[in-house]
Amino acid sequence: MNLIKDRLIRVSKKYKFLRDFVFEGCQSMAIFFCAAFYGEHDAIYALTHNVPEVTLIDIDEEKMNEMKNIYPTNWEFITGDAPQIASRFLKEGKTFDIVTCDPWSPYTPKILNEYFVDFWKLANKYFMVGGCDLEYFYTPYNVSPDKESLEKYLLKLWNKKVKLEYMFKASSIGGGCYYMMFEGGSKK
Ligand SMILES: C[S@@+](CC[C@H](N)C(=O)[O-])C[C@H]1O[C@@H](n2cnc3c(N)ncnc32)[C@H](O)[C@@H]1O
Repeated sequence: MNLIKDRLIRVSKKYKFLRDFVFEGCQSMAIFFCAAFYGEHDAIYALTHNVPEVTLIDIDEEKMNEMKNIYPTNWEFITGDAPQIASRFLKEGKTFDIVTCDPWSPYTPKILNEYFVDFWKLANKYFMVGGCDLEYFYTPYNVSPDKESLEKYLLKLWNKKVKLEYMFKASSIGGGCYYMMFEGGSKK
């Protein structure tokens, strides 16, 4: 497991899915859809930036159990359906400084079109949505992968002014797979 952790740290230094500035003053993080690559896109950044309170959520029980051997024992591990857990957190009035969602690409349109506000409202500072492909979201929903188009789409859909902090193309899969970091919506 230490070998996996070392590899994750090396990869995180190269790719920077979460940039250093988002961790300034960060006290808590909820990482939804965290497990398939052991947190290569998200959880490893919480570890290397020493975030004090971290909650990991994924539906894959086996992978979650393996992750318990990589990450600190005082982190919270919740196995279950991400939208259901987000809605439970909302009802409980829970918020986190950073919230991330990194589903498989075919699921990402559901995050943006059905659950966006539920997750966004949990985030005090930043909210990341990953795994967003041209093939599954941008092309079918007629949105260009740029700040202005995405903000306009979300405003029209949700009637909320959502600010995109940064986006980047993480790979060329599906015509281009994008990660988007939004300003959090807990106070909106
Ligand atoms: C792209 S992978 C996540 C990769 C992960 N962020 C990483 O860096 O290792 C997508 C994840 O979504 C999880 N998943 C799929 N459906 C889910 C659901 N309804 N609720 C929670 N997790 C789900 C899968 O088990 C898988 O781990």
